[in-house]
This record gives sequence, C-alpha cells and structure tokens, in this order.
Amino acid sequence: MDRYVIRGGRRLQGTVRVGGAKNAILPILAATVLNRTKEDIILTNVPHIRDVVKMVDILRSLGAEITWSGNNMVVSTHNLSGFAISEKLMREMRSTIFLMGALLGRFGQVCISHPGGCAIGQRPIELHLKGLRKLGAQIREQHGFIYASCSRLTGAEIHLDYPSVGATENIMMASVYARGMTVVSNAAKEPEIVDLQNMLNKMGAKIRGAGTDQIRITGVTQLHGIEYSVIPDRIVAGTLMIAAAATGGSVTLENVIPGHLEAVTAKLRETGVQVREENGRLHVEAPPRLRAVEYVRTLPYPGFPTDLQAPMMAALVRAKGTSIVIENVFDSRFKHVGELNRMGAQITVATDNRTAIVHGVDKLTGAIVTAPDLRAGAALVIAGLTAEGETVVEGLEHIMRGYENLEGDLAKLGADIKRVRG
Ligand code: EPZ
Repeated sequence: MDRYVIRGGRRLQGTVRVGGAKNAILPILAATVLNRTKEDIILTNVPHIRDVVKMVDILRSLGAEITWSGNNMVVSTHNLSGFAISEKLMREMRSTIFLMGALLGRFGQVCISHPGGCAIGQRPIELHLKGLRKLGAQIREQHGFIYASCSRLTGAEIHLDYPSVGATENIMMASVYARGMTVVSNAAKEPEIVDLQNMLNKMGAKIRGAGTDQIRITGVTQLHGIEYSVIPDRIVAGTLMIAAAATGGSVTLENVIPGHLEAVTAKLRETGVQVREENGRLHVEAPPRLRAVEYVRTLPYPGFPTDLQAPMMAALVRAKGTSIVIENVFDSRFKHVGELNRMGAQITVATDNRTAIVHGVDKLTGAIVTAPDLRAGAALVIAGLTAEGETVVEGLEHIMRGYENLEGDLAKLGADIKRVRG
C-alpha cells in the first residue's frame, strides 16, 4: 500500500481551499434514497474520498444511477430495487448504518449486516434501533444481520440517551414519510445534521430544529429532485489549522465556515496561535513553539471535536509544558499515542484509556509509523511535519477515507511530503 515520505522542519505558509464535508455527504447520499421521483438530485462540493466511493458503490448495488465528475454528482434513485446491503459492502464502511432509516422510509423494510466495531471503539447502535422501534419498526437481529420492517412508520417522541450523530440522522430520515410528527430530544447538534435537514427540506421534507437539541419532523408524502451544495469539511479545516500551528506556520484557509470551528479556534489561541477571520476565510499565524494547554476535552458539538483529538495531540507533543487530553466520546481513540512515542513524544495514557498526559518535548525524530485509523493517520502526518529527519507514514488507506488530497494540500503550503506508491 502507498505511504507518505515526509521530511520535517518546514513552516507551512500560503493559502489552501477546503473541500466538502465527509460527515455531511455520507448521510446526504443516504437521504437520496428517499426520492422516489424521476427527478435527479445534483450534489456539488462533493469530496473525492474513499468513504464516498464506497457509499456510491452501495447505492449503485441497490439500483441507484450515479454519475460523478470531479466534485459534482448526479444521483437518480427512481429505479431503486433493493433494500438489502451485502455484508461485504457493509463491512467496508460502517457509515452504511445511515441507510437503515432511509431504506425503511422508502421501502418499509431494510436488511443490513450489523456494522460491528472499528479501530476507535465498539460503535454500538442501540440508540439507532431504539429510535426506529419507537417509530413502529419491527427489528430482528440474527446471524450478524439486522432486518427491520414496517408498512408505514408513525411519528413518535424519541429521547436519545446520548446525542448520537448517526442515530439523530437515521431517525430524521426514517421520519420524513412517517405519519404525523416525530420529536427527537437530546438530539446531536453537529453542523452536518443541519446540512442534512437543509437538503431534505429543499427536497420537500418538513424538518425544524437541527442544530439544537430538539428536532421536529412532520411526515410528508412526496419529495422531489434538487441541486444542493455540501458544507465545507470542518475536520479537514481543523486538521490544516493544527498542522499550521504545529509547524509555526502562517496559513489561510478558504471555503470554511468559521462558526463551525469555534472550539478548535479557542483551543489553538490558548497555545499562543493567532486565528483571524476575514470575509469567510480563516488565517492562522503560529509562534515558533506552542504553549501547552491545561486540557483538551472532546465533547459532542459545539465542544472540541473528537475527530481532531489526535491531530491536536500531535501538535501538543512539542509544546512548552504538559497538556492533558481527555477523550469523552469514543472508548478507544488513543491508538496514535504509541506511534507518537516512537517518534520521541512523552505521552502517558491513564488506565481508563480516556485520559492522556502529554509532556512537551523539545524535538521529535522521524520514524517509520503506521496509521491505525483515519484521524490518527492525520496526527502522524502532522508529527512528521515537525520531526527532525524523515518520517514514513504507512496505512494511507485509512487517511484516504477522509482527506481528498492531504499530501497535495500540505505540499502546496511548502511541506516536504511525497506519496510513494506500492
Ligand atoms: C459520527 O459518527 C461521525 N461519522 C464520526 O466521525 C464522529 O467522530 C462522530 O459522529 C462524533 O462526532 C460520520 O458522521 C460518518 P455517534 P457516529 O453516534 O454517528 C456512542 C470521522 O473520523 N453510541 O455520535 O458513529 C458511540 O459508541 C468519524 O470522521 C452509542 O453508545 O457517532 C460513541 O462512543 C469517526 N450507541 C458515541 O456514542 C449508539 O447507538 C458517539 O457516537 C450510537 C452511538
């Protein structure tokens, strides 16, 4: 598999444009299933990443016709025939779980294989299933498959024990054609949920409240084709901001929504980085060495995003002082710590596997490291940008899931990074 070869020590400088959001386009693609008409759904600002390639494969396996050119996509789901997703495809990407609500809403039945866990945690789905059952779905789980059916879902009041992003989105999609009103309380408030609401409402759905902890969905009987542009990826933007900070750089980001990055901006300012917003662009100006921060605590939006915990830790390993990083969202999201320590970092993980103590060191040294998951991979790249000598990052298949062209973006900003095939 390909690998990155990075020579560290360069300040990132210049301007880079951020692409469309992975965690918006995936539920939005699932939502296209709800369109029964012959009208197309045209999507723009679609990131060309592996997770979208896999979601397109899955939709095509169900009978969708999709043409994809650059960052534009045309989706026709008039001839959708299937409601069962093959285990092979399901295994390749757990986000397929979003299709449950949409397929149930479209066909009144769905069969998927249990998505199972992944590198960052067990990833249970009981909140998804509990919400769908409240809407009237009969759900059977056996032999690793989940079969759900209901002739017509009925609106219900659903309280989420935890503000799960996926469960919120699945219930929203299942409720679009349900009879009557559905109210989701303790809903997740991520910007990607607002994007899904806006896309569905443009198709003719009646959803209110996304972005708050209470979302109301009034069932409708028909949707229609639209053209829709996906929001920018706040996690890619945050990754690039943190890379600029770690290298003492001066970087401007285009195609960002600064309001989606307030927790990241606030935390970077604590390290001594200047972040300035001007006409929709974010400018990051970093000192030669960051200050340690007392805490980085990951929380549901608008708290500090769990997806930027690993990249932020990679920036803090060379900060002046000791920082504490607490991962409150996932149960196993410190897989980057071992690899960072191989580069000379001094990070200790407490027995709860939720708290990491990061003692700032003066320098990292390049090493051959392996990306264990998507965001840990981005963290190792950031560490390589600041390490002395050469760092080889293997396991790029993880990084390609969520970054369109990380090496291209960083090289454009002056990094010495090459993608080596094979
Ligand atoms: C979405 O995952 C994102 N993925 C994740 O991004 C992101 O980290 C996460 O939200 C939190 O922001 C997509 O949108 C495709 P959750 P999701 O349901 O929906 C527990 C990335 O790197 N939980 O909010 O799976 C769960 O175990 C990825 O881009 C239950 O206990 O997140 C976790 O601890 C990684 N029961 C916590 O909630 C459930 O039924 C957050 O999960 C569902 C979730």
